[in-house]
Amino acid sequence: MTAARLVLVAATANPDKLAEIREILGGGGVELLPRPVDVPEVEETGDTLVENARLKAVAISDATGRPAVADDTGLEVEALGGAPGVYSARYAGESATYADNVHKMLAALEALPDRGGARRAQFRSVAMVRFPDGREVWREGVVEGSIADDARGSSGFGYDPVFVPDGAGGRTFAQMSPGEKHAVSHRGRAFRALAESLEEAGLAAGAAPA
Ligand code: IMP
Repeated sequence: MTAARLVLVAATANPDKLAEIREILGGGGVELLPRPVDVPEVEETGDTLVENARLKAVAISDATGRPAVADDTGLEVEALGGAPGVYSARYAGESATYADNVHKMLAALEALPDRGGARRAQFRSVAMVRFPDGREVWREGVVEGSIADDARGSSGFGYDPVFVPDGAGGRTFAQMSPGEKHAVSHRGRAFRALAESLEEAGLAAGAAPA
Protein backbone atom coordinates (compact mmCIF):
# COMPACT_ATOMS: atom_id res chain seq x y z
CA MET A 1 0.00 0.00 0.00
CA THR A 2 1.36 3.44 -0.87
CA ALA A 3 0.97 5.90 1.98
CA ALA A 4 0.61 9.61 1.41
CA ARG A 5 3.30 11.93 2.68
CA LEU A 6 2.56 12.74 6.33
CA VAL A 7 3.04 16.33 7.51
CA LEU A 8 3.76 16.53 11.24
CA VAL A 9 4.20 19.60 13.44
CA ALA A 10 6.85 19.08 16.11
CA ALA A 11 6.20 20.05 19.72
CA THR A 12 9.83 21.07 20.03
CA ALA A 13 11.37 24.24 18.66
CA ASN A 14 14.88 23.03 19.63
CA PRO A 15 16.80 22.91 16.31
CA ASP A 16 19.03 20.03 17.43
CA LYS A 17 16.09 17.84 18.40
CA LEU A 18 14.25 18.83 15.21
CA ALA A 19 17.21 17.83 13.06
CA GLU A 20 17.46 14.50 14.89
CA ILE A 21 13.75 13.73 14.54
CA ARG A 22 13.75 14.82 10.90
CA GLU A 23 16.69 12.51 10.18
CA ILE A 24 14.83 9.52 11.65
CA LEU A 25 11.26 10.19 10.50
CA GLY A 26 12.01 12.09 7.33
CA GLY A 27 12.98 9.16 5.10
CA GLY A 28 10.52 10.14 2.39
CA GLY A 29 7.33 9.46 4.32
CA VAL A 30 7.24 12.39 6.72
CA GLU A 31 7.68 16.13 6.46
CA LEU A 32 8.43 17.78 9.80
CA LEU A 33 7.47 21.39 10.60
CA PRO A 34 8.81 23.21 13.69
CA ARG A 35 6.47 24.36 16.46
CA PRO A 36 4.86 27.63 15.30
CA VAL A 37 6.38 30.57 17.19
CA ASP A 38 2.97 31.75 18.43
CA VAL A 39 2.21 28.41 20.14
CA PRO A 40 3.65 28.57 23.67
CA GLU A 41 5.67 25.72 25.14
CA VAL A 42 3.49 23.34 27.17
CA GLU A 43 4.13 22.73 30.86
CA GLU A 44 5.02 19.11 31.52
CA THR A 45 2.66 18.43 34.42
CA GLY A 46 1.97 14.74 33.74
CA ASP A 47 3.02 11.91 36.07
CA THR A 48 4.34 9.74 33.26
CA LEU A 49 6.37 10.18 30.09
CA VAL A 50 3.33 9.15 28.01
CA GLU A 51 1.15 11.78 29.69
CA ASN A 52 3.72 14.49 29.07
CA ALA A 53 4.23 13.50 25.44
CA ARG A 54 0.43 13.52 25.03
CA LEU A 55 0.05 16.96 26.68
CA LYS A 56 2.58 18.41 24.23
CA ALA A 57 1.22 16.65 21.15
CA VAL A 58 -2.42 17.53 21.91
CA ALA A 59 -1.54 21.20 22.45
CA ILE A 60 0.19 21.40 19.09
CA SER A 61 -2.42 19.48 17.14
CA ASP A 62 -5.24 21.53 18.74
CA ALA A 63 -3.44 24.79 17.92
CA THR A 64 -2.55 23.89 14.32
CA GLY A 65 -5.26 21.44 13.24
CA ARG A 66 -2.47 19.16 11.99
CA PRO A 67 -0.98 15.90 13.28
CA ALA A 68 1.70 16.61 15.86
CA VAL A 69 4.76 14.75 17.11
CA ALA A 70 6.14 15.01 20.65
CA ASP A 71 8.53 13.16 22.91
CA ASP A 72 9.35 13.01 26.57
CA THR A 73 12.40 11.52 28.27
CA GLY A 74 13.51 10.50 31.73
CA LEU A 75 16.69 9.08 33.27
CA GLU A 76 15.95 6.28 35.73
CA VAL A 77 18.69 5.45 38.25
CA GLU A 78 18.19 2.07 39.92
CA ALA A 79 19.85 2.93 43.26
CA LEU A 80 17.73 6.09 43.49
CA GLY A 81 14.49 4.14 43.11
CA GLY A 82 14.05 5.20 39.48
CA ALA A 83 14.62 8.93 40.14
CA PRO A 84 14.76 11.42 38.58
CA GLY A 85 12.55 9.72 35.94
CA VAL A 86 9.73 11.93 34.70
CA TYR A 87 11.19 14.78 36.79
CA SER A 88 14.60 14.70 35.04
CA ALA A 89 14.40 18.28 33.73
CA ARG A 90 13.71 19.74 37.17
CA TYR A 91 15.45 17.25 39.49
CA ALA A 92 17.37 20.02 41.29
CA GLY A 93 14.47 22.51 41.20
CA GLU A 94 12.21 24.36 38.78
CA SER A 95 14.97 26.52 37.30
CA ALA A 96 17.76 23.95 37.61
CA THR A 97 20.51 23.92 34.99
CA TYR A 98 21.80 20.69 33.45
CA ALA A 99 24.88 21.05 35.69
CA ASP A 100 22.71 21.44 38.82
CA ASN A 101 20.83 18.25 37.97
CA VAL A 102 24.01 16.27 37.29
CA HIS A 103 25.57 17.55 40.51
CA LYS A 104 22.53 16.56 42.55
CA MET A 105 22.51 13.08 41.03
CA LEU A 106 26.21 12.44 41.69
CA ALA A 107 25.82 13.73 45.25
CA ALA A 108 22.79 11.49 45.85
CA LEU A 109 24.77 8.45 44.67
CA GLU A 110 27.86 9.38 46.70
CA ALA A 111 25.64 9.60 49.79
CA LEU A 112 24.59 5.95 49.47
CA PRO A 113 26.60 3.42 51.54
CA ASP A 114 27.94 1.61 48.45
CA ARG A 115 27.79 4.71 46.15
CA GLY A 116 24.88 3.11 44.34
CA GLY A 117 26.72 -0.16 43.62
CA ALA A 118 27.04 -0.64 39.86
CA ARG A 119 25.17 2.66 39.43
CA ARG A 120 22.85 1.05 36.89
CA ALA A 121 20.57 3.45 35.01
CA GLN A 122 18.52 3.76 31.87
CA PHE A 123 17.21 6.52 29.68
CA ARG A 124 13.63 6.04 28.58
CA SER A 125 11.90 8.08 25.84
CA VAL A 126 8.34 8.09 24.58
CA ALA A 127 7.73 9.39 21.05
CA MET A 128 4.14 10.08 20.03
CA VAL A 129 2.17 11.22 17.01
CA ARG A 130 -1.27 12.62 17.73
CA PHE A 131 -3.86 13.27 14.99
CA PRO A 132 -6.48 16.03 15.19
CA ASP A 133 -9.23 13.35 15.35
CA GLY A 134 -7.74 11.99 18.59
CA ARG A 135 -5.94 8.95 17.17
CA GLU A 136 -2.45 8.51 18.56
CA VAL A 137 0.53 6.25 17.94
CA TRP A 138 3.35 6.06 20.48
CA ARG A 139 6.42 3.95 21.08
CA GLU A 140 9.08 3.74 23.75
CA GLY A 141 12.87 3.56 23.46
CA VAL A 142 15.26 2.52 26.24
CA VAL A 143 19.05 2.51 26.51
CA GLU A 144 20.69 0.80 29.47
CA GLY A 145 23.93 1.88 31.07
CA SER A 146 25.44 3.27 34.25
CA ILE A 147 26.25 6.57 35.91
CA ALA A 148 29.92 7.60 35.78
CA ASP A 149 31.80 8.76 38.90
CA ASP A 150 32.43 12.19 37.35
CA ALA A 151 31.24 14.19 34.36
CA ARG A 152 33.22 13.43 31.15
CA GLY A 153 32.96 14.88 27.63
CA SER A 154 31.47 18.00 26.10
CA SER A 155 29.00 17.01 23.40
CA GLY A 156 25.26 16.51 23.87
CA PHE A 157 23.28 17.98 26.74
CA GLY A 158 21.52 17.17 30.00
CA TYR A 159 22.88 14.07 31.75
CA ASP A 160 25.06 13.05 28.76
CA PRO A 161 28.38 13.71 30.60
CA VAL A 162 27.55 11.11 33.30
CA PHE A 163 25.64 8.46 31.32
CA VAL A 164 27.75 5.52 30.11
CA PRO A 165 25.70 3.39 27.70
CA ASP A 166 26.43 -0.35 27.76
CA GLY A 167 28.69 -1.55 24.95
CA ALA A 168 30.37 1.77 24.12
CA GLY A 169 33.77 1.10 25.70
CA GLY A 170 33.07 3.05 28.87
CA ARG A 171 32.55 6.39 27.11
CA THR A 172 29.79 8.71 28.24
CA PHE A 173 27.22 9.99 25.72
CA ALA A 174 29.05 13.33 25.92
CA GLN A 175 32.21 11.61 24.63
CA MET A 176 30.41 10.23 21.55
CA SER A 177 29.57 11.94 18.25
CA PRO A 178 25.87 12.78 17.74
CA GLY A 179 25.61 9.96 15.16
CA GLU A 180 27.11 7.39 17.55
CA LYS A 181 24.80 8.52 20.34
CA HIS A 182 21.64 8.49 18.22
CA ALA A 183 22.37 5.00 16.88
CA VAL A 184 21.87 3.60 20.39
CA SER A 185 20.02 6.31 22.26
CA HIS A 186 16.59 6.15 23.91
CA ARG A 187 15.25 8.90 21.61
CA GLY A 188 16.76 7.32 18.49
CA ARG A 189 15.17 3.98 19.42
CA ALA A 190 11.78 5.53 20.27
CA PHE A 191 11.59 7.50 17.02
CA ARG A 192 12.79 4.61 14.85
CA ALA A 193 10.09 2.42 16.43
CA LEU A 194 7.53 5.18 15.90
CA ALA A 195 8.55 5.47 12.24
CA GLU A 196 8.05 1.70 11.86
CA SER A 197 4.61 1.87 13.48
CA LEU A 198 3.54 4.75 11.22
CA GLU A 199 4.72 2.81 8.22
CA GLU A 200 2.98 -0.41 9.35
CA ALA A 201 -0.26 1.52 9.87
CA GLY A 202 0.03 2.91 6.33
CA LEU A 203 0.36 6.45 7.68
CA ALA A 204 3.85 7.18 6.33
CA ALA A 205 5.96 5.52 3.66
CA GLY A 206 9.55 4.37 4.10
CA ALA A 207 10.06 6.35 7.27
CA ALA A 208 12.31 3.97 9.14
CA PRO A 209 16.02 3.89 8.29
CA ALA A 210 17.92 1.14 10.18
P1 IMP B 1 12.80 16.07 27.57
O1 IMP B 1 11.59 15.32 27.95
O2 IMP B 1 13.38 15.62 26.25
O3 IMP B 1 12.64 17.54 27.68
O4 IMP B 1 13.93 15.67 28.62
C1 IMP B 1 13.78 15.91 30.02
C2 IMP B 1 15.16 16.03 30.63
O5 IMP B 1 15.84 14.78 30.50
C3 IMP B 1 16.05 17.06 29.95
O6 IMP B 1 15.93 18.31 30.57
C4 IMP B 1 17.43 16.48 30.18
O7 IMP B 1 17.91 16.85 31.44
C5 IMP B 1 17.20 15.00 30.18
N1 IMP B 1 17.47 14.42 28.85
C6 IMP B 1 16.57 14.16 27.86
N2 IMP B 1 17.18 13.60 26.80
C7 IMP B 1 18.48 13.51 27.15
C8 IMP B 1 19.62 13.02 26.45
O8 IMP B 1 19.58 12.54 25.30
N3 IMP B 1 20.79 13.10 27.12
C9 IMP B 1 20.90 13.61 28.37
N4 IMP B 1 19.89 14.09 29.06
C10 IMP B 1 18.67 14.04 28.44
